Amino acid sequence: MSQEACLSPTRISTRTIVPVLESVGVGSSFHKLRLGGTAIARAARPGQFVHVLPHILRSGALHDPLLRRAFSIMATSSSTPTTARSTAASSSLKIVDEEEWFEILFRVGGRGTTLLAQARAGEELDVLGPLGNGFGLEAVAQPQAQRPLLLVGGGVGVPPMIFAAQFAAQTAALRLADVSRETLAPQHPQAQEFAVEAFVGARCAAELVGVTALRLAGARVSVATDDGSVGQRGLVTAPLLQRLRELKGRASGAVEPLVCTCGPWPMLKAVAQLCAEQDVECRVSLEENMPCGVGVCNGCVVPLLNTPDDYGRYGRICVHGPVLDARTVDWGDAQASPPGVASPPGVASPPGGASPPGGAQHPTPEHSPNGSWTGAMHSEK
Ligand SMILES: Cc1cc2nc3c(=O)[nH]c(=O)nc-3n(C[C@H](O)[C@H](O)[C@H](O)COP(=O)(O)OP(=O)(O)OC[C@H]3O[C@@H](n4cnc5c(N)ncnc54)[C@H](O)[C@@H]3O)c2cc1C
Ligand code: FES
Repeated sequence: MSQEACLSPTRISTRTIVPVLESVGVGSSFHKLRLGGTAIARAARPGQFVHVLPHILRSGALHDPLLRRAFSIMATSSSTPTTARSTAASSSLKIVDEEEWFEILFRVGGRGTTLLAQARAGEELDVLGPLGNGFGLEAVAQPQAQRPLLLVGGGVGVPPMIFAAQFAAQTAALRLADVSRETLAPQHPQAQEFAVEAFVGARCAAELVGVTALRLAGARVSVATDDGSVGQRGLVTAPLLQRLRELKGRASGAVEPLVCTCGPWPMLKAVAQLCAEQDVECRVSLEENMPCGVGVCNGCVVPLLNTPDDYGRYGRICVHGPVLDARTVDWGDAQASPPGVASPPGVASPPGGASPPGGAQHPTPEHSPNGSWTGAMHSEK
C-alpha cells in the first residue's frame, strides 16, 4: 500500500474489560452503548473502531458467539459537546472508569448485535481498541487551513461521521483558543471558520440516525432519503454533488474541500467516483466483516490498486484501514458489492471478486440496492 493510503499509521490499542454506563434503544432498529474506558476514550480518533465480544461477561458464555463485532467509535467524553451529554455521569453507578467514556451505535440485526443490545448498565464487556487508521483530521481541522470538511454517512456509516464532526469542531476551537488565548466552545462563531457539513442518507425517516448529534457538533446537515419521507428524495450524492460544484466554483486560491465518508459499499463507490470527477480528495471508511480485527485471518480483505504487502492485490482493512484514500481502492465495475458479497442477478462480480489469498470468500453483510445495511447477516456456526 502506498504511504498516503495509511492516514494515521500510529495507533495504540488495548484489550479492556469496560463497564456499560448506558444502554439505550435508538429508533426502531438501532442501539447505543456508552462504555467506560479512559484509555480508549483518550486514544480514539475519528474513523477508528472497537472490536467487541458480543456476550455480556456475567453470562458465562465466554466463547459463544466466538467472534468480536466491529463498531466505529461514535463519540468520546472529550469530543462530545456538553449540551449533548446525558445522564450517565450523574447516575449512582460506582465504576472506576466512569468519568471517561466512548459510545457506539449499531443496527440490531444478527446474533451478536442482538446480544449486545441486551447489555445493561453495570454489566461489563470485553473490548479491543481503538483499532485501525482514522480519517487523519488532526492536520485538517486547523482554523488557518479553513478547509471545508464534507462528511457523508449512510445507514450505520453515520456514527464515525458524528465523531469526525465533534473532533473537527473541537480541534478547530482549541486551536483558535491557542491563538486568541481564550476558550471558545465549538459552537462559537469563530470556530465556524472551520466549516463542517454533513450529508446523511437513509432509506426512510425511521432509518435515519445521527442528525441531531451532527447539528449539536456544529455541522450543517443535509438529509436525503430514498422515499423522501424526510429531507431530499433520492441519494445523498445529489446534495453532495451540488455542494462540491459550489465549492469548486469559488474564487481560485480557495482551499480544497475534503470529503470523508462511511456507509455501504455502493454509496462509498458513488461518493468516490463523484469526488474523482470533481477532483476532490476523498477518504473512505470501509466496513467489511472483521473476524479477528488484528490482521491475522484475511477475513476482511478488499481489492486495492496499490497493494500494501504480499497479499497480492488485496489489503486487510482491519490494519490498512478502515479509512483509506478513495483513490487507492479498486472499486471494480460491479454495481453493488465488494468481493465476497454475492452479486445480484445480472451484475458481474467485480474484478477483485476472486477468492483472496489465504482464505475462501468471506461472508459479508448484505446490502440493499440503495446501499443501506440490511441487517441480514451471516451467522456463526
Ligand atoms: C470498521 C467497522 C466499523 C463498523 N461500524 C459499525 C457501526 O458503527 N454500527 C453498526 O451497526 N455496524 C458497524 N459495522 C458493521 C458491524 O460490524 C456488523 O453490523 C456486525 O458485525 C453485525 O453483527 P451481528 O451480530 O448483528 O451479525 P452476525 O451475522 O451475527 O455477525 C456478523 C459478524 O460475525 C462474524 N462472522 C459471522 N460468521 C462468520 C464466518 N462464517 N466467517 C467469518 N466471520 C463471521 C463477522 O465478524 C461479522 O462481522 C462496522 C464494521 C466495521 C468493519
Ligand atoms: S479481520 Fe482478520 S485480517 Fe482483518
